[in-house]
Amino acid sequence: MKKAIISFVLFSILVITAVAVGNPDGLFIVRPADYSMVEGELIPIVIKLSNNVDAITIVRNNDEIFKGTDVKGKGYFCKTVKLNFGPNEIIINAFEGGRVIESKKVTVFYRSDLSREYRITPPEFQKKPFHKEDSEKACSSCHDTNVSPKDIKPQKPGDSACYSCHKKITEYGYVHGPAARWDCLSCHDKNSKPVKYVTQKPDRDLCFVCHKAQKEEWTPKKYWHGPTATGKCTICHNPHASDNPFWLRKPTWNLCVTCHEDRASGRHVVAGFVFGSSHPTKGRPDPIRHGKELSCASCHNPHASNSRSLFANDLISPGSLCQMCHKK
Ligand code: HEC
Ligand code: HEC
Ligand code: HEC
Ligand code: HEC
Ligand code: HEC
Ligand code: HEC
Ligand code: HEC
Ligand code: HEC
Repeated sequence: MKKAIISFVLFSILVITAVAVGNPDGLFIVRPADYSMVEGELIPIVIKLSNNVDAITIVRNNDEIFKGTDVKGKGYFCKTVKLNFGPNEIIINAFEGGRVIESKKVTVFYRSDLSREYRITPPEFQKKPFHKEDSEKACSSCHDTNVSPKDIKPQKPGDSACYSCHKKITEYGYVHGPAARWDCLSCHDKNSKPVKYVTQKPDRDLCFVCHKAQKEEWTPKKYWHGPTATGKCTICHNPHASDNPFWLRKPTWNLCVTCHEDRASGRHVVAGFVFGSSHPTKGRPDPIRHGKELSCASCHNPHASNSRSLFANDLISPGSLCQMCHKK
């Protein structure tokens, strides 16, 4: 009996605290965490609103990127937005009757190997993963947060426990097979602790689980391309989707010259072979790879090769390379 009373008292305290937290004054930003570092372009913004708030705006680095007028009485507001490389100062303004009643700010750093300026994370920013034990409790009244057998090879996207919060991740022109099927758990470990859904590192080992043909083709090669050799396939490929074929983070030519700025002219191609001339590296159809544009990948393999200069198709001399397209 005594035990029951104590439990009841404890339970009441819990309920009272929950209600108090559930009705913040104005607004409270649940995610993203302040001074967090992320490596993906999309960030979910999740805020708690008090009942008097009737509109909100989201401002990223002084640009108003969203205005919502349908928020009254909802308690929570969730919206995925895109980030720019580097620091993103996100300000949320809460309105009542056309007047700002509260503003809150978080700063998120989007790091990328493809940004010369923002390759290194400043020390004040850290990874602050969301998916830790219990983090999803506050969400479960509206979102299905339990992973169940239907999440392994779901029949349709909506069956995946990831869909309701991450649906924007596949909204691009080219989508990678397993992500297109919302088979998210083929790469994200549902049993990992304390952070859920981590992926195997280096990426190479994860990718090669399914891409056995590439593993067999590239492993015996004498030379591996710098970034591929580090095993970080996701420097160049988004594992989910992008607006470029092969889910590349940039179109091939732009991708290569991000790191090889000095090769942007294409002049190196013919140095020593055709005096005084330069060679096109883009803007023409590729004569041997039908349907593709000429690009750095027409002559170089981005992964591995038996020539030091990483010539495509295992041509080991520049001479044989030229003949590939310019038959004598
Ligand atoms: C009161 C109900 C409610 C609660 C609680 C709630 N959400 Fe949501 N959430 C929604 C609704 C409704 C949508 C769909 C909005 C839409 O489609 O425009 C949504 C959508 C989302 C999205 C996708 C947004 C987009 O633009 O694609 C994310 C991410 C999200 N919620 C995260 C969370 C997280 C994290 C929590 C817990 C901390 C949470 N939500 C709690 C109601 C809720
Ligand atoms: C209730 C909404 C919700 C659901 C359901 C959800 N996520 Fe998330 N996820 C988020 C939010 C919010 C973030 C944090 C983004 C930020 O603020 O940095 C996140 C971040 C992540 C991250 C980055 C690391 C981290 O923990 O922050 C991964 C990976 C991830 N989610 C995978 C998944 C997978 C896989 C599933 C399905 C099994 C899933 N998520 C389901 C809301 C959700
Ligand atoms: C669970 C299995 C699986 C894993 C793991 C996987 N892939 Fe894939 N991948 C596929 C399937 C299936 C296809 C073919 C369907 C398609 O084109 O989307 C594919 C196709 C591709 C293609 C296009 C190939 C072509 O010739 O068109 C690229 C590029 C790619 N994956 C990159 C990656 C990278 C990078 C990784 C590691 C981050 C990876 N994949 C991990 C299953 C997987
Ligand atoms: C082919 C493997 C693969 C599949 C399939 C996959 N992911 Fe990922 N995902 C990754 C890798 C690798 C990362 C980068 C993790 C890191 O390095 O921290 C990642 C990162 C993420 C992140 C962090 C933000 C970002 O974009 O980097 C989220 C969120 C996420 N995945 C959600 C999902 C969801 C939802 C699905 C299902 C539609 C999914 N993933 C399917 C491999 C995969
Ligand atoms: C330096 C950037 C870069 C890195 C790093 C990289 N790739 Fe690629 N990958 C590309 C480009 C560019 C293409 C498209 C080439 C073309 O146009 O034919 C491609 C094509 C592919 C393809 C499809 C065509 C093929 O060759 O089979 C697969 C699969 C693939 N990559 C997987 C991987 C895996 C796995 C890794 C990590 C071991 C990786 N990539 C690392 C740039 C990269
Ligand atoms: C993330 C940065 C990065 C990207 C993107 C990148 N590379 Fe590289 N590349 C490197 C590094 C690092 C090396 C190794 C340099 C060294 O060892 O001196 C390298 C070396 C090379 C080499 C010469 C090999 C040698 O030993 O001299 C070639 C050729 C090359 N890359 C072509 C490409 C092509 C083609 C692309 C686009 C598909 C590309 N790279 C994209 C970083 C990059
Ligand atoms: C038409 C074929 C062709 C195209 C297209 C091409 N290259 Fe090359 N590349 C070559 C040849 C041949 C060499 C070796 C001769 C030389 O260094 O002058 C070379 C050398 C290189 C090297 C130095 C490798 C070494 O051995 O030190 C790098 C790095 C490189 N290319 C990057 C690129 C990038 C980035 C692009 C796209 C902007 C590109 N290449 C486009 C043919 C090509
Ligand atoms: C992947 C195919 C490919 C390879 C390999 C290749 N070329 Fe070309 N080359 C082209 C294309 C496409 C053009 C442009 C033709 C046009 O515009 O009509 C071109 C044009 C040229 C031109 C005329 C210059 C100009 O500005 O139009 C010369 C000279 C040339 N190539 C020499 C070489 C030499 C030398 C090599 C070997 C180092 C080589 N090419 C390798 C595809 C290639």
